[in-house]
Amino acid sequence: MKHWVKDARSILQKRGLKGTQEEIARASGNRLLADFKGFNFDFSTWDAEENRPEGYGSKDFHGNCSPTIIYGLLLKYAPENSVVFDPMAGSGTFVDVAHAMGYQNVLAYDIHRFRDDITEKDAEQTNLDNESIDFVFAHFPYWKLIQYTESNVSDLSRLSYNEFIIKTENVFREMHRILKKGKFFAVMIGNMRENGVIDLESDFSVIGRKYFRLWDKIVKKIRTWEGKGGERMRLAVARARARDSTVINHDTILVFRKD
Ligand SMILES: C[S@@+](CC[C@H](N)C(=O)[O-])C[C@H]1O[C@@H](n2cnc3c(N)ncnc32)[C@H](O)[C@@H]1O
Repeated sequence: MKHWVKDARSILQKRGLKGTQEEIARASGNRLLADFKGFNFDFSTWDAEENRPEGYGSKDFHGNCSPTIIYGLLLKYAPENSVVFDPMAGSGTFVDVAHAMGYQNVLAYDIHRFRDDITEKDAEQTNLDNESIDFVFAHFPYWKLIQYTESNVSDLSRLSYNEFIIKTENVFREMHRILKKGKFFAVMIGNMRENGVIDLESDFSVIGRKYFRLWDKIVKKIRTWEGKGGERMRLAVARARARDSTVINHDTILVFRKD
């Protein structure tokens, strides 16, 4: 019997697992997970599933993100044994995907502690050591689109746009400080409308390029409009037509590299 087969079988037996594709992936430390099979991350447009797999963060958390996107980013930009960090962890989607993929060192902060494994801290000041992190994923508030706290002064979603941009730059500077050279900082952000487009994607790209090299730019399709029997979609389209505009149905993932 080949050595690796024996090895994999004994790992399964020790853990009392049967050997489904997902179990094997987890038990052997292989980062490929069956939950996300079939998605293609090779091109610069990503179409995440409408029905998110269970067990990764919470779909009920307003402003949660797709586990599939986090999976794709970790696969591509965070090799095995990386120390990975989400400074705005929300419901913990990143933490759950990273653990399922076998990462041993997973850090998660947020100004509001939604779960016990998330540390309450402002992303602007992490107190982490210089150049101690291998990969950062930050899913920022889309300015005030969703307000995350009642009155927390650190909450990015409660600031004026000017203050929001200044604080965003502080966070980028902090991520640059803690990231190791040659490693990646992935930011997910989307635009919003208020008397025209507020181009957060563009502003974030300009800020990021002051500190990092823009390594990848991925457009992610938003499918949440399509739920609830199509009613949300019909209303959004009707409003957009009445205003001579389009329905925003994409987010952007900016992937920066520290040189
Ligand atoms: C878009 S949500 C993240 C959702 C998360 N990716 C998930 O799947 O559940 C943005 C998060 O940023 C947090 N936040 C706002 N201001 C922050 C700050 N200054 N430092 C850290 N987190 C902050 C909010 O509390 C919120 O949880």
